[in-house]
Amino acid sequence: MNILEIISKKRDSKELTKEEIEYFVQEYTKGEIKDYQASALIMAIYINGMSDREITDLTLAMAYSGEVLDLSKFGTNVVDKHSTGGVGDKVSIILLPIIASLGVPVAKMSGRGLGFTGGTVDKMESIPGYKTDINVNEFISNVEKVGISMIGQTMNLAPADKKIYELRDSISCVENIPLIASSIMSKKIASGANKIVLDITVGNGAFMKTREDAEKLANEMIKIGKLANREVKCILTAMDEPLGYSVGNSIEVIEAINFLKGDMPEDLKEVVLELGAYMIRIAGKGEDIEENKKKMLENILNGKAYRKFEEMVGNQGGDISYLQDTRKFEKSKYISAVVTEKTGYVQEIDAEEIGKLSCYLGAGRIHKEDKIEPTVGIILNKKVGDKVEEQGFLAYICANEEKKLREAERKILEIYKIEEKEVKKNPVIIEII
Ligand code: URA
Repeated sequence: MNILEIISKKRDSKELTKEEIEYFVQEYTKGEIKDYQASALIMAIYINGMSDREITDLTLAMAYSGEVLDLSKFGTNVVDKHSTGGVGDKVSIILLPIIASLGVPVAKMSGRGLGFTGGTVDKMESIPGYKTDINVNEFISNVEKVGISMIGQTMNLAPADKKIYELRDSISCVENIPLIASSIMSKKIASGANKIVLDITVGNGAFMKTREDAEKLANEMIKIGKLANREVKCILTAMDEPLGYSVGNSIEVIEAINFLKGDMPEDLKEVVLELGAYMIRIAGKGEDIEENKKKMLENILNGKAYRKFEEMVGNQGGDISYLQDTRKFEKSKYISAVVTEKTGYVQEIDAEEIGKLSCYLGAGRIHKEDKIEPTVGIILNKKVGDKVEEQGFLAYICANEEKKLREAERKILEIYKIEEKEVKKNPVIIEII
């Protein structure tokens, strides 16, 4: 087999065989196929698409490019959760300890930031000492001991997805149904959970801009799940403005810790409770969605969810004194408040623009080898629907360079759309599939 033939076939919109897909995935993972050739193929897939059969073959080839964990010792109800990506999306950091505190085992493999969206691994690494690159045995023994482990993709689980994911990010090939579906499902299959809840974000701060595309993506992943014997539930959630108030890395972790201590922004709370209630249901721990939400709230308010988070962080080498006193987190060099001359109501805060601004400040990667700056980002003070009075304070910018700070201050004033008319907020939970 020859990579040039495979590239030209896809370039000419022809269907690839299972063998051709497996060949590409295996050889690229080994480093035998070069980045520029893989880039050409990925771009051809992005432009010309893939059939359902090709998507399944790509998913399985990536899932089996490394180890596939067997978590059957935890029973038949190990749940996992994944988001298709968003801005200010710290849901996993909050939700998974809550679920684990209710006695449902959680084995979670997360990704790094992709495009203008943040990644759970980058965020978790802003906790000093927290290790995301532990080996498979440690991962499993953590789930056994603490009931939860959250790790990155650095060990030998779906290594092909790790390489292709980073490549896609650096060649602007992220927003694509076959590539997103296969990327997420390959990770989920490799990390061993048999029940999966997917948060499919929709809106300008998501990769799926329309509900129609989000439904297509959801159905694609449900289909892959069936073939791989995994139960998949999809929740479509709104991502038009950032979720919660913070966008960055350490500042999102701080918001997540505060949430677990009982300070819950409304939109974030709705998403966390809805996803969690379905996780509990598919884990066989409660049929009634509203009851499940109550159980989750109870464990937030009685401190069990926060303590589970502390236990998980401590168990993976993290310094829990930072969780106990979040003022210990290092601050960016500059923190500046952005104030507007306008009055009225916030009509729109384009989440994609906020995500790009956060990356520009250093919270995300422009090139795949870029280092993240954990302290930078944006903390919103006003959300859509909020009233802005004279000299209204819109947001804080956390930056390490003065030039970037000034540029971000200017951009924030552009991104916030403020008008006289009152605004009704759209629901955050759009659809359950
Ligand atoms: N999350 C992933 O893991 N992969 C994607 O392609 C998009 C979001």
